[in-house]
Amino acid sequence: MKIYLETMGCQMNRLDSELIVGSLRASGYELTDDRQAADVLLYNTCSVRLHAEEKVYSRIGADAKQKQDKPDLIVGVLGCMAQREGEDFQKRYPQVDIVCAPGQLHALGEMIADVATGASAVALDPSRGESPDSAAEKAMDLLDTNRDPSAGKSPSKAYVRVMRGCDNFCTYCIVPYVRGPERSREPNQIAEEVKRLVDSGRTEITLLGQTVNRYRHSSGEQNFRFSDLLEKLSPTPGLRRLRFVTSHPLDFTDDILQAMAGLDNVCEYIHCPAQSGSDAMLKKMNRKYTRSEYDDLVDRAREIVPGVVLAGDFIVGFPGETEADHEASAELIRQSGYKNSFVFKYSPRPGTLAAKKFEDDIPDATKKRRNNELLAVQAEVGLAHNKAHIGKTVEVLTEGPSPRADKQPVPPTPECTQMLGRTAGDHIVVFDAPQSLANQYANIKITDATGLTLFGQLI
Ligand code: SAH
Ligand code: SF4
Ligand code: F3S
Repeated sequence: MKIYLETMGCQMNRLDSELIVGSLRASGYELTDDRQAADVLLYNTCSVRLHAEEKVYSRIGADAKQKQDKPDLIVGVLGCMAQREGEDFQKRYPQVDIVCAPGQLHALGEMIADVATGASAVALDPSRGESPDSAAEKAMDLLDTNRDPSAGKSPSKAYVRVMRGCDNFCTYCIVPYVRGPERSREPNQIAEEVKRLVDSGRTEITLLGQTVNRYRHSSGEQNFRFSDLLEKLSPTPGLRRLRFVTSHPLDFTDDILQAMAGLDNVCEYIHCPAQSGSDAMLKKMNRKYTRSEYDDLVDRAREIVPGVVLAGDFIVGFPGETEADHEASAELIRQSGYKNSFVFKYSPRPGTLAAKKFEDDIPDATKKRRNNELLAVQAEVGLAHNKAHIGKTVEVLTEGPSPRADKQPVPPTPECTQMLGRTAGDHIVVFDAPQSLANQYANIKITDATGLTLFGQLI
C-alpha cells in the first residue's frame, strides 16, 4: 500500500510526521509524493487558526469525489484537528476513514490495516481533566526514542521533542486542548536520542516544546531545569548547533540566558512571542506577563547573550484591541529590534476562553490593515538588523541550492550554484558555492542585505 502524507502546522507536527514516516516504513508501508498514485491519503493537521483547518476541509472535500471512482481509497485526518473535531467528525465527513489524535499516532499503522479490512478507526486522546492514557504515552515515547534518523528530510538537521502539551491556556489558543497537559521527557532519554541523531550525521538539533524553556523534570529530590538540559546536551560530541523553540517570556530566567552565553554550540537565537505590546491585551490573552516584564527580558537577553537574535509573534485584532493597543505592538517591534516576526490575525477557536467570553469585534478589514502595518514596521526593523551584518563574516550551515538558483543570470552548475544557508542566529544567507557544500558549514562574508535575506561571498 502506498501512503501520501501532507503536513500542516508547526514544527511539532513536522516532527510527528517524520516519526510516522519512519514507523510506517518499518511496518512495510511505502510512502509516495504522488497523491494520485496513493492508496492512503493522510493529513497531519493544525487547528491553531480557522485558515489552517479550511485547507483540510477542502482536501477532504476533493477526496470524497475521488472516492466515487476509487472506493478503496483510505483517507485519514491526523493530529490537532482530529482531536478537536473528535467523535462526530466521521458522521459529518463519512469519507474520513481514520481520525487519529496527536497522542495516538503510534497506532497509525494498525489503524490503516484495520481500515483496509473494512473497519473505521478513531483514536482520540483523553480530553483535559480526564486521566492520562499512560499506555499511549509510553508508546509515543518509543516512537521518539526508536526513531529512524534517516526518515527526516535533512541529513544535517533534526528536531527533538523535549516536552509535550501546554498548560498556559492563553485565552485565544487551542493547543492546550488538542495537545493535552504539559509533560517533560526524561533527560537521559533525550540525551540518547540527540546522540543517535548526531552520530548519524545530524549536526544541528532543535529542541521542541510549546513552552520549551519551561522544560522541567524531577526525579526524587532532583529538579532538572531547561538550563540543565542545555548543559547536558551541549557536550554531545559532533553537535555543532543546539537550538530550541518556542519560548514563553514568563519562563525566560537568567540561568537559561547564562547557559546560552556560556555554551558555545547553543545558538544565540530566541523566538519568544510577545503576542501584543499592550498590557490590556496581554491580560485578556492570559499571557501572565506585562509589557514592562517583556521589555526587561529583551534587555536581559541583550545584556547576557552578546549578539542575541530575537524573533517574535503577534496577534492583531484580538477582541477589544484599540488603535492605541495596536500602536503599542508596533512600538514593541521597533524597540525590540526583532530579526523577524510572525503576525497573525486573531481567529476565534471553538472551546477556547476567548471564543466563549469575548466577541470577535474587530472587523476583518481592520485586522488586515493592522497585520500589514505590523509587517511593514517589522520589515524596516528587520532591514536595519540585517544591514548591520554587511562587512561581517558569518558561519552558515548550508542547506542546498536557493529557491531562486535556477533564475540566476548564469545557470547553476555543480561547481557554482546560488546556495542558501542559515547562521546560528537563523539569518538566511544566499551565496555562490559548489553544490557539494550542501549540509556543510562555511564562512560567508556579507556584502548586501534585504529585510529577509543576507547576501555574501564564500571565503
Ligand atoms: N507555543 C507557541 C506557539 C503556539 S501557536 C507559543 O506559545 O509561542 C503559534 C502562534 O500562533 C502563537 O504564537 C500565536 O501568535 C498564534 N496563534 C495562536 N492561536 C491563535 C489564534 N486563535 N488566532 C491567531 N493566532 C493565533
Ligand atoms: Fe498556546 Fe499559549 Fe500554550 Fe503557546 S503558550 S501553545 S500560545 S496556550
Ligand atoms: Fe497547530 Fe497543533 Fe502545532 S494546533 S500549531 S499543529 S500544536
